[in-house]
Amino acid sequence: MEYHNPVLLKETVDGLDIKPDGIYVDVTFGGGGHSREIMRRLGPNGRLFAFDQDTDALANAIDDERFTLINENFRYIKRFLRFYGVKEVDGILGDLGVSSHQFDVAERGFSTRFDAELDMRMNQNDAISAYNVVNEYAEADLRRIFADYGELTTAKGLAHAIVQARTEEPIKNTEQLKQVLSRFLPAHKSNKILAQIYQAIRIEVNQEMEVLKEFLEQSLEVLKPGGRLSVISYHSLEDRLVKRFMKNGLFEGEPEKDFFGRFEVPFKLIGKMIVPSEEEIKINSRARSAKLRIAEKK
Ligand SMILES: C[S@@+](CC[C@H](N)C(=O)[O-])C[C@H]1O[C@@H](n2cnc3c(N)ncnc32)[C@H](O)[C@@H]1O
Repeated sequence: MEYHNPVLLKETVDGLDIKPDGIYVDVTFGGGGHSREIMRRLGPNGRLFAFDQDTDALANAIDDERFTLINENFRYIKRFLRFYGVKEVDGILGDLGVSSHQFDVAERGFSTRFDAELDMRMNQNDAISAYNVVNEYAEADLRRIFADYGELTTAKGLAHAIVQARTEEPIKNTEQLKQVLSRFLPAHKSNKILAQIYQAIRIEVNQEMEVLKEFLEQSLEVLKPGGRLSVISYHSLEDRLVKRFMKNGLFEGEPEKDFFGRFEVPFKLIGKMIVPSEEEIKINSRARSAKLRIAEKK
């Protein structure tokens, strides 16, 4: 099975405005689709550093001396670039979320299609899995996660049902979780709601919001003036953070004003948000919710 079919391939890499001699970073290597396209546009002196916290992605590494794959979380981008002697880069690409491979391997626990153990760790060495979230988190925390990350109106009921059920026995797999939450999964909407529940747990397990914030802040620090940031997000919470950060250099509130009363912002926005064409969505259904935003550091 194909590891991952890259989304908005041309648009995302075009957004980086590749200079053949430049230094680039792909923080979500996955199957390496975007990385291969960057490599194709680099000259002999260009460099590409890629990150993926999933050891499965290492098998896709590109055999080329201009390429380095770092098996770490991109929340440490600055630290690892420094380790490799790199202080500034010309462009950074992020294609957030989960790869098709991670969805398709039942044991990874990302997909509601399989009756697998609750896991959902992108980094297989992380201490907290979906099992820990479901069986050990306080009711109030589960409720917050379902409301904030799953945007579920039934968050309170879902959290309560889980906490009740686990006093009898631990909830270990998809089927058990579906059973416990069956009341909240009406037949006509069950897949959609379950997907939202899984999304919420996944975001918590992988600390996706915190990690994204740390990454965006460090990207600004490591980009050269004129350097590009090209980010694809797959749900509104991620997109909101990316959008605000590119617009204001902040996640909340308004930026400072300069002497003339103009907002002081660190990026220039490049074009409008880009979404995949109908064609692309037809070939690759995972592209459906993708939103690409591009910015240039001032
Ligand atoms: C949507 S896929 C990227 C696919 C890739 N663009 C391609 O063309 O194959 C996201 C990848 O990023 C990785 N990932 C997600 N969050 C990460 C993080 N915080 N640190 C490092 N890797 C991460 C996942 O393990 C996954 O392999």
